[in-house]
Amino acid sequence: MAKKLWGGRFKKKTNPLVEDFTKSIDYDYKLAKADIIGSQIHVSILEKSGFLTHEEKEKLMKGLDIVYNELKSGEFVFDRECEDIHTNIQNALEEHIGDLVLKLHTARSRNDQVLFDLKLFSKNELLAITSLCADLKKALNTACVKAKGIIIPGYTHLQRAQLIYLTDHLKSYVEMLDRDYNRLIEIGTRIKLSLGAGALAGTPIKADIYSKLIQEFIKEQKKFAAILNIKSDVTTPKALDTVSDRDFVIEILSALAIVGMHLSRFAEDLIIWSTKEFNFVQLDDAFATGSSLMPQKKNPDVLELVRGYTGILYGNLVSALTMMKGLPLTYNRDMQLDKPPLFSSFEIIAKELKVMAALVATLEWNTGVIQKSIEEDEGIYATDLAYYLIGKGIPFSRAHEIIGRLMSYSLESQKKIRQMKDEELKTFSEALKHTEIVKLMDPVISVKSRVSVER
Ligand code: ARG
Repeated sequence: MAKKLWGGRFKKKTNPLVEDFTKSIDYDYKLAKADIIGSQIHVSILEKSGFLTHEEKEKLMKGLDIVYNELKSGEFVFDRECEDIHTNIQNALEEHIGDLVLKLHTARSRNDQVLFDLKLFSKNELLAITSLCADLKKALNTACVKAKGIIIPGYTHLQRAQLIYLTDHLKSYVEMLDRDYNRLIEIGTRIKLSLGAGALAGTPIKADIYSKLIQEFIKEQKKFAAILNIKSDVTTPKALDTVSDRDFVIEILSALAIVGMHLSRFAEDLIIWSTKEFNFVQLDDAFATGSSLMPQKKNPDVLELVRGYTGILYGNLVSALTMMKGLPLTYNRDMQLDKPPLFSSFEIIAKELKVMAALVATLEWNTGVIQKSIEEDEGIYATDLAYYLIGKGIPFSRAHEIIGRLMSYSLESQKKIRQMKDEELKTFSEALKHTEIVKLMDPVISVKSRVSVER
């Protein structure tokens, strides 16, 4: 069994079942780089506060650099028998610098360490996700160029409501992604880095040494891209709260769940539009899948999985919230379980944003089908006709009633409104004039009449 960071007070060896049950290396290996950076800052802090000589510091720093480079090049082999990433890195370091490694954990607790790692990791991931949000926004904006001028029915309750520009529909998702982008940046900015909380009650090193050295590291801005782009405040630990705070994890999971919900709605729109019944859009063959039994099928599995993953994203959020709800101050081992849901949501959203950006770039709109489906539907102009009557001095509710009756008559008699002459229209309202309403029942006029919309 691999070396541990504890053990002195125990008379018995840990039961292997316990080792297996408690270890976190299977997922916290992802924190490796952040852990090394945290350790390098810690080493500088130890030197500044007199716990390490300059030579010792240099040796530790170099050793950590070696391990960092091994990680970067993929040479590093994680010891899956080892409890966690902190122990893994420390043991790897020992191979390079020997006994000096025993000074590394001076005035440090994994409770504080893991939090620093997770915060740094999260800032970096948030940055990656925001950049993927921006890519999808770009893909949608490019899709808007292709969709320019196409008019489609807009829906409420999934019932035809009024005509809209397809680009306005697509731009709604740009708006959502814009909010997502800002939300993620705000959360990233709110994550304040700190060290010095110790296990729960602080350490014998002064707070200003911690903040100064973390700040110096941030200024260096070398290894973690996030530090460059997401504003990084440093805070003095309110130790008890610091080691037991997972608000940032919950905020991230919540923001990612919202991104997932947005993508799921978009996926659902595309699923509906690509059915034979709608046939507004064609999914590219490269982004669709077939059926093992029915040779004619082209299925939107990618979109269905985008919709389906939303369940896991919500589950991840609920899992973290539930994990936290009954914990007494301060750190409790339950908190180790913040990582699987967090990592899972980061991964899901990154994959979704990537695949959706690629899929959107290949969408082909069936303009002929869309046009035909509008031509056949006079009901979609009902609101326009009501406005027309208002323009003639008829109060709105009366206009609503008149057009309602006209629509119902058209349906029952199977007569197109466009074909009704003044005589027939008069029975509903003297104000209805054939030539005028025929002009109004035009997709472009209909859409353009709604000038309150920002386009
Ligand atoms: N693996 C632990 C976690 O993720 C690290 C902290 C362990 N602390 C402890 N006192 N056992 O939370």
